[in-house]
Amino acid sequence: MKYIVAALALAASAVAAPSEKRTDTCTFGTYACSSSNAGIQICNVSNQWEYVGDCPNNTVCKDLEQNGYTLPFCTEPEPAVEKRNGRPGQSPGEKCQTPGKYDCFGPYAIQVCDTQNVLKYVGACPEKTHCEYLNGIPFCVDSV
Ligand SMILES: *[C@@H]1O[C@H](CO)[C@@H](O)[C@H](O)[C@H]1NC(C)=O
Ligand SMILES: *[C@@H]1O[C@H](CO)[C@@H](O)[C@H](O)[C@H]1NC(C)=O
Repeated sequence: MKYIVAALALAASAVAAPSEKRTDTCTFGTYACSSSNAGIQICNVSNQWEYVGDCPNNTVCKDLEQNGYTLPFCTEPEPAVEKRNGRPGQSPGEKCQTPGKYDCFGPYAIQVCDTQNVLKYVGACPEKTHCEYLNGIPFCVDSV
């Protein structure tokens, strides 16, 4: 009788290697999930990660790689948003033109155009901040 030795690579241990805090340098304007995947962070002009905001309750941040873009999303459920405020094409779930393009969603949140040309909710700005464009890229900036 022959033994068949299955050489099981312990690939699983390599998958979840959580970094405590992302302190790596990054490219200005890049978005990513926070290390805990509880929220979204953005790379600021100092090329350092800055926290944008928490994902809504019962959702988790996922980096979706699509067509060369890495787009962090807070996955389902979609937040309840007002879609009838006379801002057609401006709210999550609606059509958009440029995949990978981030925009302010109202004054206090950020959204992104996904590769299906549908706007996705990214995250809310923290308290006392609001969404503002910096070199065409939306940031949550201090309101005071
Ligand atoms: C960029 O983020 C880092 C880390 O959060 C922070 O120390 C720095 O002040 C930020 N730079 C600007 C210009 O906001
Ligand atoms: C989300 O969860 C936190 C902590 O459990 C709770 O304090 C907060 O009220 C919740 N928010 C909503 C909108 O349910």
